[in-house]
Amino acid sequence: MKKAKSVGLPLIAATLALGAMSSCNRSEHTAPSEQADRSAGGIAEKRATVVDPHSFSRPREAVVRHLDLDLVVDFESQTLTGTATYEIEAAPEADEIVFDTRDLEISSVIVTAAGEARQAAFSLSEEQPFLGRALRVELPPAANTVRIAYATSPQAAALQWLGPEQTASGKPFLLSQSQAILARTWVPCQDTPGVRMTYSATLRVPKDLMAVMSAENPTERAVDGVYHFEMPQAIPSYLLAVAVGDLEFRSIDERAGVYAEPSVVEAAAWEFADVPAMMTAAEKLYGPYAWGRYDLLVLPPSFPFGGMENPRLTFATPTIISGDRSLVALVAHELAHSWSGNLVTNATWDDFWLNEGMTTYITGRLMEELYGVEYAQMLAVLGRQDLLATFEEFDPGSPDSHLKLALAGRDPDDGMNDIAYEKGSAFLSTLEAKVGRKRFDEFLRGYFSHFSFKSLDTETFVSYLRENLLAGEANLSQSPEMSDELDLEAWIYGPGLPADAWTPESAEFDRVEAQIAALEQGAEPADLDTGDWTTHHWLHFLRKLPEETTSAEFAALDIQWHFNTSGNSEIQSAWFERSIEAGHTDVYPALREFLLRVGRRKFLKPLYTALAATPQGLSWAREVYGEARGGYHSVSSNTIDEILGWEAGE
Ligand code: BES
Ligand code: ZN
Repeated sequence: MKKAKSVGLPLIAATLALGAMSSCNRSEHTAPSEQADRSAGGIAEKRATVVDPHSFSRPREAVVRHLDLDLVVDFESQTLTGTATYEIEAAPEADEIVFDTRDLEISSVIVTAAGEARQAAFSLSEEQPFLGRALRVELPPAANTVRIAYATSPQAAALQWLGPEQTASGKPFLLSQSQAILARTWVPCQDTPGVRMTYSATLRVPKDLMAVMSAENPTERAVDGVYHFEMPQAIPSYLLAVAVGDLEFRSIDERAGVYAEPSVVEAAAWEFADVPAMMTAAEKLYGPYAWGRYDLLVLPPSFPFGGMENPRLTFATPTIISGDRSLVALVAHELAHSWSGNLVTNATWDDFWLNEGMTTYITGRLMEELYGVEYAQMLAVLGRQDLLATFEEFDPGSPDSHLKLALAGRDPDDGMNDIAYEKGSAFLSTLEAKVGRKRFDEFLRGYFSHFSFKSLDTETFVSYLRENLLAGEANLSQSPEMSDELDLEAWIYGPGLPADAWTPESAEFDRVEAQIAALEQGAEPADLDTGDWTTHHWLHFLRKLPEETTSAEFAALDIQWHFNTSGNSEIQSAWFERSIEAGHTDVYPALREFLLRVGRRKFLKPLYTALAATPQGLSWAREVYGEARGGYHSVSSNTIDEILGWEAGE
């Protein structure tokens, strides 16, 4: 029989601490999240304002509601030139509106008030590292429209202009990556996830290329190279996205499809055939899909991320096209952001776990729904391994391993790592394990509906959690294995993994470990029982190979399983990483080819880090990087510059 339990003291203590901490965080550029305030009602009244230290804008005073872009995309000069016109709402006493910009050339600003358009006075503040410059535009009373004429710089950090040699089609390609604070490098905007706007756009591109955005998209080429876009749902600026290239569209079903270069599109459509089933599964759990269509854009391999959840059009790396659909958890992840992130958004980058931790948790649920519990367990164990490895990168007690981050004064990109994803997901799985799946599903459904098209911070989430899941629960835990105590303080504001964390397990991985044990006892690779292994079994195998494995043993593994030339990018990069660590330099030619072709930071970072651990490795890495760097997006090259101590101009 289950003993009667009461909610432990830590929960109450945590509550008090959270209440106190939510109001102590102020910075010069405060960006109150009006949306969260309004939506959260009673809870929000207890909070003052949400502060976004990474935006100069002051949306409380004057806020953008709609953006209309009209831009010429010029590959020759590698610039976007044209106008951004905003519908704004200004408080009666507001005499200016503030936008974020970085590396933009502003040529003129026109403000309309009471139907009359006039040139407006504007100023740009001094440049700040990674934040750029505040653009302040003077507002006459009753101003409702602002038009900014501007051009981007060829160095715009969000944009990557690819030459013909970097694409499958041999035609040039433009792609954007706006998260976290790079939207301001291609559009002047209130660049905080606490502000949402609808948008429309006209893009003028070379006639032989097609343009797509995070909006309603064309499926055919426009003969004149002019494309119009509408985004009727309000989104934060980090979800503004554009790509221009030799694109073709293939439908998957009536609401999903894929865009890619012609030679890639067929394989992509095959790989993503399960997207409709993923959408159905997600809707069943968390409510209707709010964005109309769900399409994917497969980019050239220099794209710095695996995926980016640009609404209506997920941007994806081609390295997930493995030919066996084994890497589609990434698609489920980006699709899951249609709820966690795009519908309900973190108010600041300190609350990043609300986007990514929730999405990682949901991905697990979708994978379980589609491919069964063993599959989801393998993903969960790999994720936990990533988390434990990430903890190792920090000093014990480092605030970078807290769920609530403290990124003020830093580039938010520096603090965005596996903690948000995997500790965030562990927190939610722990809650699920305590209260039971049924109640937790109901809670999340309510959460998405309550905060839909809103932004919220961690403190608001915790209040909502307390009021809607934890409150009044004498017996919090429905499981005899889980304690009733929930140390919210430790989960949100503490380092490492709290003692009550749910622990993922995988019987499939026990089988893998048994084969590794056989290998250690002298079995030959050919004797191992690996016939039914999937990508995830192999990843676990590679990760768990003993540290003492010699270069000769690595060579024998490769003869048996051909990791070096695997068509599976995850297996290949795990193989390269372990080989580098073992001094198995036979992999260098294949590794060189990989580093020159693939710009995905998740792969590049561990590989260059492993290489940099020895003087020989470092010097080889610097040589390859010298050749590869020009082909990487700034998001990746900034990270690798640091790892290799690469100086500007090298
Ligand atoms: N939104 C992220 C990518 C991102 C994070 C861009 C932070 C900029 C700053 C995206 O949803 C993501 O998490 N991508 C992962 C996918 C993976 C966890 C399945 C990636 O790219 O590897
Ligand atoms: Zn994500």
